[in-house]
Amino acid sequence: MTAVVIVGAQWGDEGKGKIVDYYTESAQVVVRYAGGPNAGHTLVVGDDKLVVRLLPSGILRPATACILGQGMVIDAKVLLGEIDQLAARGHADLGSRLMLSDRAHMILPYHLILDGLRESALGQGKAIGTTKKGIGPAYEDKARRTGIRAGDLRDLARLRTLVEAALDAWRPTLTALGGDCPSAAAIVDELGPHAARLVPLLGNASRAADEAVQAGKDVMFEGAQGTLLDIDHGTYPFVTSSSAVAGGATIGAGIGPSRIDCVVGITKAYTTRVGSGPFPTELSDASGQHLRDVGVEFGSVTGRPRRTGWLDLPALRYARRVNGLDGLALTKLDVLTGLARVKVCVAYDTPDGRVDELPVDLIDRPDLARPVYDELDGWQEALSAARSLDDLPAAARRYVDFIAQGAGVPLYLVSVGPRRAESIELRHPFTAK
Ligand code: GDP
Ligand code: IMO
Ligand code: MG
Repeated sequence: MTAVVIVGAQWGDEGKGKIVDYYTESAQVVVRYAGGPNAGHTLVVGDDKLVVRLLPSGILRPATACILGQGMVIDAKVLLGEIDQLAARGHADLGSRLMLSDRAHMILPYHLILDGLRESALGQGKAIGTTKKGIGPAYEDKARRTGIRAGDLRDLARLRTLVEAALDAWRPTLTALGGDCPSAAAIVDELGPHAARLVPLLGNASRAADEAVQAGKDVMFEGAQGTLLDIDHGTYPFVTSSSAVAGGATIGAGIGPSRIDCVVGITKAYTTRVGSGPFPTELSDASGQHLRDVGVEFGSVTGRPRRTGWLDLPALRYARRVNGLDGLALTKLDVLTGLARVKVCVAYDTPDGRVDELPVDLIDRPDLARPVYDELDGWQEALSAARSLDDLPAAARRYVDFIAQGAGVPLYLVSVGPRRAESIELRHPFTAK
C-alpha cells in the first residue's frame, strides 16, 4: 500500500502525464487534485497520442479507477468531450471507473468570458497569459462563496438560483469590462443535458480516496501545473489560481497528510514556461530554439510556443523544499542531444550574496537576482533506446549525475522519449519506502 503524489517541479508541462501513465501500470487508483482544463497532460502509447485536460492520466489503464478531486474546477463540456473521445477509442467502460467529486467547482460560461475580458483589459506587459479557460474566475467564485459545485447539478431549479446569485455578484465587473451578462436561465438550459450525464459520476471523492488507501491499494495523486505556478508558492501574480504543490493533494483530494507515503517531483532536463512572468534562465538564441524545436515545446492546450531556457537547479531545490520531494523524475533528456555545450543555473547572486535556492520574490528583478551558470559538455548521440544509466553516453551520464547531486534528491526515473518504454527506471515510488 502506497500513496504517491506526482507534482510538477517547474512551471508546468514537465511530463506529468507520461510519468503518471507510466506508473499507473501498477496503481489501482489515480486522483487528480488541482486545476482544470488549463492542464494538458500528454499520454503516448505506441504511435497513439492523447492529451487529457481534466481526466486523470491513469485513464488509459483499464484496471485503474480515476477520480476527479474536489480541488479541481470542471468545465462540463470539456469533461464530456474527453469521455466521448475515449469512448470512441474503445474505452466505453469509463462510467464504471470514473468518479467526479460532488464538491469540485464548475466552470460556467461567465468564467470564460471574464477570463478573456480581464486579460484584454490588463493588456501587454500586465496580462498573466492565462489559458482563458475560466480558471481564475471559477476559483474566485469558490473563495467568494458564490461558486457552483458539481453536486449542485443534481437539482436544476436550485442550481438556477445559485447561478443567479453568482451573476449578481459578477454583473458590476462584467459591465465595467464591457461584457454582456448572460442569463441564468440560458446557462441552466444549456447545462441540463450535461448535468444528466455527469450526475451518475458524482461521488464522495475524499472518502473514496481514503478508503482506497486504507484498503491497501496503490494510489497516485496527480498534480496539475507546477510548483512555480502555485497560487501560494509560485511566481505571483504570474501563477494559476490553485494549489499545485504536493500539499494541494491533501486538500484537493481530501486525504490527510499522514496518509501520503511518497512525493515525486517531475522536472524537464531544461526549463519551459508558457504565459507571462519572470523566467531568469530563458534563452532567446539558437539553443533556446533547439529546445523548442526538438522538444516540440508548444502548449498542449493553447498551441502557444513555450518559452525555453536552461535548467534552474536553485528552482529545483526550492521545489524540493516546498513539496518535500522524495524523488525526482527527469524528463526530456533526449531533447538536449545535439547541443555542443549545456548550461545549468547553479546559484543566484543577490544583494545578500550568492544563494543556492531560488530567491522567488526577487526573480522579477534581474538586477537583484542574477543566475550563475556552470557549463557542461553536450552529446550528439540519440538517447531514446537507453534503458539504463549505463546505456547513456558519458556526457549525458555526467549531466544526469550533476542534476541529481545538485538538486539533492534521488532520481527515480530518467525519461528519454515520450513513450512508456522510453524510460530508465531507477526506483519505483510504490516500493521506494
Ligand atoms: P504535462 O502537462 O506535465 O503532462 O506535460 P505535457 O504533456 O504538457 O508536455 C510534455 C510533452 O513532452 C508531451 O508532448 C510529452 O509527450 C513529451 N514528453 C514527455 N516525456 C518526454 C521525454 O522524455 N522525451 C521527449 N522527447 N518528450 C517527452
Ligand atoms: P499542465 O498541467 C503550463 C499557466 C498559463 C498562465 C498561468 C495562469 O499541463 O502542466 P490559468 O489559465 O491557469 O489562469 O493561467 O498558468 N498554466 C500552465 N502552464 N502547464 C499547465 O498545465 C498550465 N496551466 C496553466 O499559461 O501562465
Ligand atoms: Mg501540460
